[in-house]
Amino acid sequence: MILVTGGAGFIGANFVLDWLAQGTAGSAEAVVNLDKLTYAGNLETLSSLQGNASHVFVQGDIGDSALVSRLLAEHKPRAVVNFAAESHVDRSIHGPEDFVQTNVLGTFRLLESVRGYWNTLPADEKAAFRFLHVSTDEVYGSLSATDPAFTEDNKYEPNSPYSASKAASDHLVRAWHHTYGLPVVTTNCSNNYGPYHFPEKLIPLMIVNALAGKNLPVYGDGMQVRDWLYVKDHCSAIRRVLADGKLGETYNVGGWNEKPNIEIVNTVCALLDELRPKADGKSYREQISYVTDRPGHDRRYAIDARKLERELGWKPAETFDSGIRKTVEWYLANAQWVSNVQSGAYREWVEKQYDAESTEPAGTAKAPA
Ligand code: NAD
Ligand code: DAU
Repeated sequence: MILVTGGAGFIGANFVLDWLAQGTAGSAEAVVNLDKLTYAGNLETLSSLQGNASHVFVQGDIGDSALVSRLLAEHKPRAVVNFAAESHVDRSIHGPEDFVQTNVLGTFRLLESVRGYWNTLPADEKAAFRFLHVSTDEVYGSLSATDPAFTEDNKYEPNSPYSASKAASDHLVRAWHHTYGLPVVTTNCSNNYGPYHFPEKLIPLMIVNALAGKNLPVYGDGMQVRDWLYVKDHCSAIRRVLADGKLGETYNVGGWNEKPNIEIVNTVCALLDELRPKADGKSYREQISYVTDRPGHDRRYAIDARKLERELGWKPAETFDSGIRKTVEWYLANAQWVSNVQSGAYREWVEKQYDAESTEPAGTAKAPA
């Protein structure tokens, strides 16, 4: 089995759902899913796994060394995939401490717990073990319009509290390999989008605000460039790196889809105009509103994913056109998920799940005492 951290968040949950869907019924490799359930963790996203004995959910913190060590000893995973993090740049500007706490200290403690467990393994299991750290392209800083895309050799120049905390975590992971021999691999991915994305991030926020008749807030001049990857392609890349990535190496993950933000917002509006036209015949574009820029806003990210393509044969399955259409369709078809997030009702899933524990729902467990 594998231990996934942060598996109730956007990418982690997509990863767990895809992982368990890979095997034919009952044959998928089991997942222990450790998630603190911050505001970004949503058990409702995993509701289809109720009754699936291959999924064990544990609410807890990667920085809780006693809990993590106990889980490792009990479940004996062959790998740890670390998604757990504070992930939103704007929140990191308003309150950086949580980012240092989880992304830096939490990763450090997780590495130490994993090192302790790994050292107890017999030689063959020790050699086969993997710690995969999921990171971001933001650690490389900002590109000018003419710079080449980030390769794995770019130097780290993080500019936000979020990216600085992720850069620190990447350095810790690297050091635990170099110093202690822990078998690590790191992925640095560009902006993800797709189902179950929390509507504080650009694409889901634009979809839900448009449908609610609210303003679509575009920061600054809207000409900042991001490189977009459909979340399920990120998940397939992580599976490839986990299977065959070289120890101690880092792999950039991206879909060669650089777009200015305003183009993304216009595309979302055009899809909504087509799929859910407004009664008054007007375009959702009329809701676009330029607002004050994000402090320290990175101008451009772009990922050169050739190493991953060349060495591990990975390619994204979706183009931006196919992925963004699927995404808008998913949000239109899952209004209840969106409304539970907006009302805060999704947080009641924790209570609901745990209340039900006495009647033994599969796939959900409280943190061990
Ligand atoms: P997210 O914010 O949606 O989810 C993070 C999850 O981690 C949540 O379920 C949260 O409850 C959990 N968590 C937070 N602190 C924790 C702690 N101390 N212990 C245990 N669990 C904790 O984030 P996401 O967008 O799914 O990103 C997942 C990972 O991928 C992050 O490490 C992020 O840096 C990285 N990443 C994200 C993107 C992107 O575009 N979203 C791109 C590249 C890399
Ligand atoms: O590049 C990978 C990173 O992508 C991940 O590491 C982060 O976890 C993830 O949150 C994302 O960071 P960004 O800051 O790029 O994503 P966000 O969706 O917050 O913003 C995307 C762009 O859109 C960015 O240039 C800011 C802009 N924006 C964002 C919001 C929320 C707006 O113009 N208006 C908005 O309301």
